[in-house]
Amino acid sequence: MEESVGSPVTGMQHVGKTNLPVDGQPVGPPSNRSQSSVKLQKNRIGTARRVFDKVFLYLNGWVWRLLPDSLMMTRPILRYGAFLHFYVQRRSERSQYHGTFFLRNRPELELIRTLANQKKIGASLKLAILGCSNGAEVYSIAWIIRSARPDLKLILCAADISTEILEIAEEGLYPLGANRLMDSQIFERLTEEEMRGIFDLEDGHVRIKPWLKEGIVFRVADAGDPGIIASIGTQDIVVANNFLCHMVPEHAETCLRNLVRLVAPGGYLFVSGVDLSIRAKVANDLGWTPVLDRIQEIHNGDPSVRRDWPWRWWGVEPYDGKRSDRDLRYAHLFRIGEQLVAEAIAGSTVK
Ligand SMILES: C[S@@+](CC[C@H](N)C(=O)[O-])C[C@H]1O[C@@H](n2cnc3c(N)ncnc32)[C@H](O)[C@@H]1O
Repeated sequence: MEESVGSPVTGMQHVGKTNLPVDGQPVGPPSNRSQSSVKLQKNRIGTARRVFDKVFLYLNGWVWRLLPDSLMMTRPILRYGAFLHFYVQRRSERSQYHGTFFLRNRPELELIRTLANQKKIGASLKLAILGCSNGAEVYSIAWIIRSARPDLKLILCAADISTEILEIAEEGLYPLGANRLMDSQIFERLTEEEMRGIFDLEDGHVRIKPWLKEGIVFRVADAGDPGIIASIGTQDIVVANNFLCHMVPEHAETCLRNLVRLVAPGGYLFVSGVDLSIRAKVANDLGWTPVLDRIQEIHNGDPSVRRDWPWRWWGVEPYDGKRSDRDLRYAHLFRIGEQLVAEAIAGSTVK
């Protein structure tokens, strides 16, 4: 029997000379027959590729774990890690997650507090958090700002594309154990004192303290929707963390270019959990100014995403201070439209 063979170049199917069933497939009319044999061929290639990927990554993981710490930051290992990460990203079917933590990246939160501290006594601070999930990030930011600057009028808008998770965020009531949408890891970065400062304890649950919830508006919104500016309005600070990496790269780039329009000229964008090359490209194209304060600590400040490199698509490489593009590549915080503001102040024409 001559089997059907697909061309690896064109993907076209060369049908063999007999009409015998292949692997028990019934013989149908010619078009159905060739379609099912293309499908079969694709399935076989897909299975072979998956097996190869599994073995390849398993063996690499095994060797990787044996590497001494002293080698991890050497150029050849960083390059090989980058290759493995690229390999993983190319092979992964990305999907969204709700996973998050309270006080997820402490150096980043400290920088948010520094920005809040630059505000005059009694001033307003407009801040939007996109992809806010169950609210852990929202209340962490509210806590860090309100503890330091109770005088500020904090106008905080928290948005997520998922209505279901946003309901949890808005209620601010969290089980101490895991449930379908959350695991108990959300508390693992908090000290007991911080737990007491943020929550009231309620029978197997913890509830966000009322002073932290005050004035926060929760909205279902898609960060990639061009209409988001009209619904949320421009902000002093926009936070867009850990959701762009779960999109295919083209969508992530389009979404990032869209959401930055929410930042008022001279305002700030925090963006992490995005493919580093996409962030650097958009930052470069749009002339964002990277903020270098604590850049390395912030880049390394979320242990879970650092630990997952190079094995998961969301994993983040270690900070490599020898790279000439390190500022744009590793900054999480950017000042937006500074140049436009300066030009406007100087009275020059702003295009
Ligand atoms: C992994 S969680 C990140 C939560 C939080 N930002 C953090 O850094 O811990 C990603 C969240 O982004 C939301 N999301 C995904 N795509 C979005 C979009 N286009 N617009 C708004 N939210 C989105 C998901 O529903 C999910 O709750």
